[in-house]
Amino acid sequence: MQDKAFIIAIDGPAASGKGTLARNLAAHYGFHHLDTGLTYRAVAKALIDQGLPLDDEGIATSAAQKLDLKGLDRTVLSAHEIGEAASKVAVMQNVRRALVEAQRKFADTLPGTVLDGRDIGTVVCPDAPVKLYITASAEVRAERRYQEMRAKNADADYNEVLDDLKRRDERDMNREASPLKPAHDAHLIDTSKMSIEAAFLEAKTLIDTALRS
Ligand code: DC
Repeated sequence: MQDKAFIIAIDGPAASGKGTLARNLAAHYGFHHLDTGLTYRAVAKALIDQGLPLDDEGIATSAAQKLDLKGLDRTVLSAHEIGEAASKVAVMQNVRRALVEAQRKFADTLPGTVLDGRDIGTVVCPDAPVKLYITASAEVRAERRYQEMRAKNADADYNEVLDDLKRRDERDMNREASPLKPAHDAHLIDTSKMSIEAAFLEAKTLIDTALRS
């Protein structure tokens, strides 16, 4: 009998396509999925809702320790301002420690899990048998975000979206605690000129090989 969960670790910058890929892979393999960005977003939202500062490590850590992974609501947490706030909360080491502990517990759920985020292959699940790093140019990612926002009738300006993305990349890649970077053994998939189906097939080939070994 299988005693260890099969873990698929997916990292990459905002709007790279990693979330869609993670959801599709989880559905295909019948694995549990956790978008770890939602955990940082939920902490940021809890602080905002209570009128608390986003840069006090003690307060933010205690919010992180109280987080219930079952209560994460993507619709509520997907707001643009919450993403920006989450990126600020995510620079704090003790916040990360609390969330990583919860994410690791989730990762061990049988028969397998797909986790997507910024530090899954490097920090959360360094022993995952499959690690993917999904990327795309900032311009392509901004165009995707812009179209998503327009589809929801949100006020959007392409240049503002591009500037925001670049600012978040900068913060996520250059922070001291667990910066966004590919694990040394991650497979890179650049979705700039690739459909979501093509990215899925490339990932599936890698995963099927790992599952057989
Ligand atoms: O993927 P997202 O936009 O939902 O993530 C929101 C923020 O959370 C992102 O700017 C950085 C942070 N984050 C992180 O530091 N580590 C993760 N594993 C996931 C997200």
